[in-house]
Amino acid sequence: MSVAKKQYKRVTTKSVVEMKNNGEKISMLTAYDYTMAKIVDGAGIDVILVGDSASNVMAGHETTLPITLDQMIYHASSVVRAITRALVVVDLPFGTYQSDPKEALRSAIRIMKESGGHAVKVEGGKEIKESIKRILNAGIPVMGHLGLTPQSIYKFGTYTVRAKEEEEADQLKEDAKMLEKAGCFAIVLEKVPAKLAKEVAESLTIPVIGIGAGNGVDGQVLVTHDMLGMTHEFNPRFLRRYLNMYEEMTNAIKQYSADVKSHDFPNEKEQY
Ligand code: KIV
Repeated sequence: MSVAKKQYKRVTTKSVVEMKNNGEKISMLTAYDYTMAKIVDGAGIDVILVGDSASNVMAGHETTLPITLDQMIYHASSVVRAITRALVVVDLPFGTYQSDPKEALRSAIRIMKESGGHAVKVEGGKEIKESIKRILNAGIPVMGHLGLTPQSIYKFGTYTVRAKEEEEADQLKEDAKMLEKAGCFAIVLEKVPAKLAKEVAESLTIPVIGIGAGNGVDGQVLVTHDMLGMTHEFNPRFLRRYLNMYEEMTNAIKQYSADVKSHDFPNEKEQY
């Protein structure tokens, strides 16, 4: 269905709720650096997520666990310098909000003050309720994240689809309601059955943004490096690749190397 789009000069947490109410799907992509953020923002993406997936994509770690608050602030401040329109949401990294609400608030304040991001994202449900409330009470917008929560990968053991069984699905629905009631402005739902995701999105007034959660939710998020095909080992079913940049970049770099070796680069016009 095509819906007439309201033009947003700047996307805010209020705008994304309005988009849901107007039936306009929300587009969200990751960025971790200035150059990529400039492209993503310039292309009109509504929400830029400075994801802790930077731990995998930027630093080559196997999981999202090692990335630090200082590193997230570095990535987020680079992104914030690039954007003119998108809402910038920054992941609170593992270990900075789970142990105690005061520490959660301190971490969120550092993100907001030192990076200039507009909101934080946290993974989990009832177990982090008090931390979420504390952050929200300080006037910092919070995006929730349920379903597959990569910071808990060692609890799950695998990256397979979550909440396929009734008990886990019921808990997820309860957690989603709790996040809405606590005051979160949106929720990411990762890798859960499409039917469940649709049910959750329809039961909430705040937007649900899916990744591997089907088309019945209010918006979609992907890791930009994956959808551009810069990464190529990661091939989940939910990923649509819009380019094969791995191949394009490899060919360009090979050509450059060949040009240097063959004395072709630089030519007369490319020198002073
Ligand atoms: O860190 C991240 O990139 C994320 C998305 C996959 C939602 O949390």
